[in-house]
Amino acid sequence: MLVPQGVSIDAATGSVSPSTGRYEKRVSELAGLYRDRVAVSDHLARRGDTLAYEVVDYRHPESDIAFGTTIMQPGRIGAEYFMTRGHFHIRRECAETYQTLRGRGILLLESRQGETRTVEMKPGIVAYIPPDWAHRSINVGDEPLIFAWFCATDAGHDYGEILERGMRMLVVEREGEPRLEPNPSYAA
Ligand code: F6R
Ligand code: ZN
Repeated sequence: MLVPQGVSIDAATGSVSPSTGRYEKRVSELAGLYRDRVAVSDHLARRGDTLAYEVVDYRHPESDIAFGTTIMQPGRIGAEYFMTRGHFHIRRECAETYQTLRGRGILLLESRQGETRTVEMKPGIVAYIPPDWAHRSINVGDEPLIFAWFCATDAGHDYGEILERGMRMLVVEREGEPRLEPNPSYAA
């Protein structure tokens, strides 16, 4: 039986206690997300296979709601900032919320019809991700970007489409500032 529980989420580190699972993503596994393949090899050669982000969750299959944190390191590969893979939810009716606890980021969203929107990520903002919008988080600051997410336990992740065709827009660094630009490699 599920019992009520207080779960502690540390805004400085993103640790979740108690938690039920955790995974991490390193630069080598995310190489395909970045346009600049030379910059990926360069990063791996100079800095090693550094940690890009980790996800910690509090999830019970018997419950309809799950939550956790995503802890994203700061960094860039070429002009592109460290970002998550990005996904649609398999269950298309499932929305999600992201509450930023630390750092500065951009939540890049794309509807099934191809409309792009962004939501600023910073402490004090809860981003609402409507059903059937692909979502990717981008750390545009120089410290970890940490956010708490809340969604349906069985929402599921559909990574295939974004992985294959990319997103229509990119967030890139231009003269020290993040800019939204069309993705030249977008495969419609
Ligand atoms: C869950 C969700 C987040 C992301 C996490 C990593 O629905 O949106 O927990 O899964 O921020 O991003 P992805 O999964 O796109 O690598
Ligand atoms: Zn999601």
